Amino acid sequence: MKITVMGLGYIGLPTAITLAEAGFEVCGFDVNEKTIDTLQSGKIHIVEPGLQQAFDQAVAHGHLQFSSKLAASDVFYIAVPTPFFQDETGAHKADLKFVESAGRMAGGLLEPDNLVILESTVPPRTSEMLARVLSEESGIPMDKIHVAHCPERVIPGNMMYELKNNDRIVGARTPEAAEMAAAIYEKVLEKGVVHKTDDLTAEMCKLTENTFRDVNIAYANELSVICDKMGIDVFELIKLANCHPRVNILTPGVGVGGHCIAVDPWFIYEQFPAEAKVILAARERNENKPRFVAEKVVGSLKKVTDTVGVLGLSYKPDVDDLRESPSIELCHILKEKGVNFIACEPFAPMGELDGIRNVPFDELLAKADYLVVTLGHTLFKENKERIAQKPYYDCVGLME
Ligand SMILES: NC(=O)c1ccc[n+]([C@@H]2O[C@H](COP(=O)([O-])OP(=O)(O)OC[C@H]3O[C@@H](n4cnc5c(N)ncnc54)[C@H](O)[C@@H]3O)[C@@H](O)[C@H]2O)c1
Repeated sequence: MKITVMGLGYIGLPTAITLAEAGFEVCGFDVNEKTIDTLQSGKIHIVEPGLQQAFDQAVAHGHLQFSSKLAASDVFYIAVPTPFFQDETGAHKADLKFVESAGRMAGGLLEPDNLVILESTVPPRTSEMLARVLSEESGIPMDKIHVAHCPERVIPGNMMYELKNNDRIVGARTPEAAEMAAAIYEKVLEKGVVHKTDDLTAEMCKLTENTFRDVNIAYANELSVICDKMGIDVFELIKLANCHPRVNILTPGVGVGGHCIAVDPWFIYEQFPAEAKVILAARERNENKPRFVAEKVVGSLKKVTDTVGVLGLSYKPDVDDLRESPSIELCHILKEKGVNFIACEPFAPMGELDGIRNVPFDELLAKADYLVVTLGHTLFKENKERIAQKPYYDCVGLME
């Protein structure tokens, strides 16, 4: 069976490698020719533990190839971005142009027995839109188009394990799509189990999972603001509350970032604004947290000319992904307030990053007068004593 993975980013590349490891003939396709050139030269373009080694093995076994030209395939996996944008009224809208264009490309090559698996996180009824696009391009009637939505739920940093060991949801539009997609995932999975459902439930399942986390983190972030007013330690409070057997409050931070948790709740809210009141409140709570942190920092500086050192720019510990990062938002607010600052993001290139000066850790410690710990990167954990030599604001409880 030949599988083509469309979109070779944080999700598509590890997925292509895992499918090749399971014995499928895999072709990775991306519209970004630079990505294809990098992969064809034997290198990978994202940071993920174990990925380079797994990539080398899959390529050496001859099961994994890359091409910038899409060709016929038994199965097309779609793992393209699904960001949001804000329209002229400020409303958040899902941007589905990448899914639609991938669907049109695959549709031009689709045969009646082929399967299309949508792994991207999408708003309700996107699988239906994809089936319609595939039908328009291929001429196959829509009810004979085999689409399954199988949302990806891996965590960056542990992807190579989770791809084989997380349970998978197979939300199929036809019985044939359910059988074919389940058979593929069952071949890949070691401990994980396949759960079959319809496409709409699968779409909502992924959004529900990430929205649950957003709401829970919003609660933690709200507690951090309340505790600040009360003068008590929010991290100790949450640790004690979590001793209760049915309580599990997540950790507050500088906000919520990344391509998933900060985005997916908007996909529900966009379609159900009258009902999604808790979801909206959580989004607003998390989006406002960087401003709260900026104000705390400004209020703590001894002199207005002091330099603030921001420790961490990515959206979570030990990854290089800067998308929707609240630490970057914090830097932009510090800039707006006229504060001198530098940042250290060890997983990103040094130099200018989105208007922020990214410097090595030692340089930041030497130059900054006041530190803001926005992430628990291992490098920062290992240097807590050095960080503690300067006044600091700890957003994540690292210095506890
Ligand atoms: N990154 C994560 O941790 C994560 C986790 C779970 C789910 N997801 C979801 O997976 C999807 C992909 O996310 P990602 O982080 O891998 O994105 P990414 O930006 O890292 O990669 C997407 C890739 O798709 C390519 N692309 C765009 N249009 C294309 C087309 N028509 N044909 C082929 N390639 C095309 C881009 O060039 C890019 O290389 C999103 O919907 C995201 O929400 C991501």
